[in-house]
Amino acid sequence: MKWEYNQFEYGGSMNIGNELLIDIKHLLGNRWSVKREDLDTYSRQIRRAAGNISKLRQSGKGPDGSKVLFPHLPYLLKEEVLISKEEREALLRLREEAKGYDAVISIGIGGSYLGDQVLFDLFCSPYWNQLTKDERNGYPQFYFAGQNMDPVSLVDLSSCISCEAGHIQGRRMQVLFLVISKSGTTIEPVTAVRGLKKLLADVCDIHLMAITDKEKGRIRPVAEKEHFPCFTVPDGIGGRFSIFSQVGLVFASLAGIDIESFLKGAQMVEEACQSENMKENPALLLAALKYIATKKYGITAEVIMPYGDKLRSFGWWYAQLLGESLGKKYDMQGNVVYNGRIPVASVGTTDMHSLTQEHQQGQKNKLIQFISVEHLPSDLSVLCDEKGVSGMVPMSRMLDAARRANEEALANEGRMSCHISISELTPFHIGALMYFFFLTIAYEGAMENVNAFDQPGVEDYKKILHEDLRKYIVKNQKEEN
Ligand code: PA5
Repeated sequence: MKWEYNQFEYGGSMNIGNELLIDIKHLLGNRWSVKREDLDTYSRQIRRAAGNISKLRQSGKGPDGSKVLFPHLPYLLKEEVLISKEEREALLRLREEAKGYDAVISIGIGGSYLGDQVLFDLFCSPYWNQLTKDERNGYPQFYFAGQNMDPVSLVDLSSCISCEAGHIQGRRMQVLFLVISKSGTTIEPVTAVRGLKKLLADVCDIHLMAITDKEKGRIRPVAEKEHFPCFTVPDGIGGRFSIFSQVGLVFASLAGIDIESFLKGAQMVEEACQSENMKENPALLLAALKYIATKKYGITAEVIMPYGDKLRSFGWWYAQLLGESLGKKYDMQGNVVYNGRIPVASVGTTDMHSLTQEHQQGQKNKLIQFISVEHLPSDLSVLCDEKGVSGMVPMSRMLDAARRANEEALANEGRMSCHISISELTPFHIGALMYFFFLTIAYEGAMENVNAFDQPGVEDYKKILHEDLRKYIVKNQKEEN
C-alpha cells in the first residue's frame, strides 16, 4: 500500500495494492471539510477504536463480549474456524452441481439477501434469465424471493416459472429453493417458501437447500428430517457481515462466480488495514474522517453513489451495513446517544437527474461517497456534440466525467465527498470493496463507542407485527368455530 505523509496534510488519496483507490481530497484539508488538527483533537477516540478492533481481531469478541468473527471471513476456505471440512467440500462441489438445476430461487431478506443481489447484478446480468442454458454455460436461471412481504411478487414469480416450465420439453423443470435465514424464523422468507411451494408444487420439481444457523432455528431440524443440504451461517457472523460466509459463497458458487478471487480481494484489504496508525491504515483513516465529519461538521446523512447500473444494488447493501451498524440509541455504557447517519442509496448518472439538486443545494448535512470502476468490462464509443465540436467519446469516459463533474460541483459549494475506485469489475475487486467497508464501519462503530454488530432496534416492530398476526388468527379461528 502506498501512502505519503505529505498528502495526509492536505487530503490526497490512498491506494491498496493498485486495485482500490481511496480519494479523500474533498473530505480532508479543505476550508469546509475535516482539518488536519481535527485528527489530533479526536486522536484519543481514533486510537481507542484502532486498539479495540485489533483486540477484536485477536479475541473474536465484540464490544459486548459476544462473538464477532468477520476478520476470519477472508480465510474461510483456508481455515476451519467458520466452516467444517465437509461443508467446505460440499461448497466446492456446488459449481458443478448447480448445472443440474434449471432455476434457483434465492429466498432471504436483509443480510440474507442484499449481498447476493449485488453478486448477481455484477457477475450475471439483467438479461441472464433470458439466455439459454447453454449461453449461461449450463448455470441455472436466478430469481429472488422473500425479500418483501408482497403477494404480487410471489404470484408474478410463480407465473414466470410456470411459463419457463412450459418451454421445457419432455421433463419437469428442476427448481432449487435456496432458503437463506440465519434465524430460520424471519417471516418474509418463511412466508415466501410456504407461498411458493403452494404455487409451484404442480408446476415443477422443487429441491431444497438451506443456509441457516448451526444450532438454533427451525430450518436445520427440517433439513435433517427431510435430507436436504444445509449450510451454516457461522456463529459470530451477523447478517450484514455475511456476504463472505456461506450466505454469499453458496449463492456465488451456484452462479459460477469465482469465490476464491472474491475472498482474495477481502484478504488483500484485511492485510492492508491492520495498522493502528491511521497513516498506514486507509480504513481507519476514512472511518476517522467520517466520524469527525459527523461529530463536528453536522453531517447526518451519507449518500452512497456508485456510477454504473450494475452497482445500483451495491448501494442498498451498503445502506444496510451503515444503517444497522451505526444507527444506535445507546452507547456501550448505556447512555442515550441516538447515533448514526442516514444512509441514502443512489446511483450515477441516473440520480444526478433527481437527487443531485438536493445534494448540491439542500441542507449541508450530507457526505457523498462516490464509487467507480476504472476499467469497465465493456465500452462503446459514441458521437458527442459539445459547443460546436463533435467527436467520438467512449461512454466510460462520459460516465467518469459525469462523476468528476458532480464531485467538483459539490466541492465548489463546499460540500464533502470521497471517492473510492476499484481498478476492475471482478469478484476480487468487489470482495476488496465490500470488505473495506466492513472495516470502515467496524472502526467507526468503535470510535462512536456503539456496538456495530447488533441490531436490537429491529425487534420492536417485530413484536407489534407478530402480535397483530396472532390476534388475526385467533379472531378468525373464533369466527370459524
Ligand atoms: O443484518 C441482519 O442481521 C438482518 O438484516 C438479517 O440478515 C435479516 O433480518 C434476516 O434475518 P435471518 O437471516 O435470520 O432471516
